[in-house]
Amino acid sequence: MNRVPSVVISTDGAVVADLKRCGEQAGTVDLVLEFAIPYRELTEPQMKKIRLASPRLVFIDLDDDAPTGCKVARYLADSHPEALIVAVGSAVPSATLVAAMRAGVSEFVEKPISQPAFDEAVERLSRKLAPSPRERAAAEGKVLFFCGAKGGAGSTTVATNFAIHLHRQTGERVLIVDLDLTLGEVALYLGIEPRYGIVDLARNLHRIDEGLLASYIATHESGLDVLSAPFDPDEGRGIGADEVGRILEFLRGVYDWVVVDASNSLDARMLAGLRTAQEVFVVTQVDVPSLRNIQRVRRVLKRVIPERSPRVLVNRFHPGTDITLKDVERTLGLEVFGTLSNDYGTIAHSINTGEPLAMSASSATGQEMDVLVRKVSGMPLEPEKKARWQLKLPSLKRRDADVTARPRILAGAEP
Ligand SMILES: Nc1ncnc2c1ncn2[C@@H]1O[C@H](COP(=O)(O)OP(=O)(O)OP(=O)(O)O)[C@@H](O)[C@H]1O
Ligand SMILES: [Mg+2]
Repeated sequence: MNRVPSVVISTDGAVVADLKRCGEQAGTVDLVLEFAIPYRELTEPQMKKIRLASPRLVFIDLDDDAPTGCKVARYLADSHPEALIVAVGSAVPSATLVAAMRAGVSEFVEKPISQPAFDEAVERLSRKLAPSPRERAAAEGKVLFFCGAKGGAGSTTVATNFAIHLHRQTGERVLIVDLDLTLGEVALYLGIEPRYGIVDLARNLHRIDEGLLASYIATHESGLDVLSAPFDPDEGRGIGADEVGRILEFLRGVYDWVVVDASNSLDARMLAGLRTAQEVFVVTQVDVPSLRNIQRVRRVLKRVIPERSPRVLVNRFHPGTDITLKDVERTLGLEVFGTLSNDYGTIAHSINTGEPLAMSASSATGQEMDVLVRKVSGMPLEPEKKARWQLKLPSLKRRDADVTARPRILAGAEP
């Protein structure tokens, strides 16, 4: 076991010294914060320090005003569930011990703290110390970043439908993040209107855990989880580049796949998002301005993520145009990774009803998406069972707490 970051709150100098000595001796516990003050003097600045330190163990002293100590334990157990609370004390009455356990204390070590008693307590606790989201974030999940070669290329259409297919085909946990923080439309395309989203997550990033994250996520009827951009463009302005990077790293620790629909502006926030990505997809149509933009964007990508080549997805493709796919590949020096047909009728219907095309029975675009997902997820390229395509899902299952009715929008004219 690595040395776990720990905090001690005790006015007894011997407790702090003993915990330090025992933790160092056994190589199990690292005291990162010490508060030698009475519980009543613990206010928001100290609590903030504790949250920022993300301790896995918090030692409290029941010889110091036990009733207030229990309140502190309850507060920490609720606000920082990643930490286990350990009480220390001498000749503590059993009623106090019971109250402490009810407040969320997991272990008790008698004073003066001996090495064997300390080691046994840590050993018992180690079984309860599951890896924290932060620890898991280092190893898990893939961030798939979708951006358009220019406005209206189809990034949101492709990303949302791709995410639904990915979830359906792999059965794994998939989240779509709307990183178009100004005018994001993912929720609209999915026919949901979440009350909370990425702005709330950014505001609470200092204390985020899976439980809190769940309150900012809406779940689409397909099972796809959605982290929405704000409705009000002003709200998205407050999110910084650093926060974008931290948010995506955290989400990668929770989900198997994090599909990002990015905005077309390559500002610092998008670059921070790109740095977390395992795959970057540039959605484009076959026209000269789009291909020229991809060449321009590639320069930035080479600088920011030199180890990855973008995957080109040709959207609204129809054979027989002046510029062929071979021309596209020659011009860009990149393979075309996938194509999605021009299918205005299906897609306009999908957007206007909030029913993604991934759901529409046997649509050509849906089947193309299927192939694309298989390529990305590494699943064999064999046709899905027909029955799956004929699935007609009932109207949206809304999570009462965070989803409200979606207004219908008017169908636009075909461009
Ligand atoms: N394969 C397709 N066939 C026909 N129409 C499509 C297709 N893909 C997208 N569209 C249409 O193109 C328009 C733009 O699509 P979308 O909003 O997905 O693009 P975007 O790149 O996300 O745009 P923005 O730059 O505004 O974020 C929409 O009206 C959509 O209906
Ligand atoms: Mg978009």
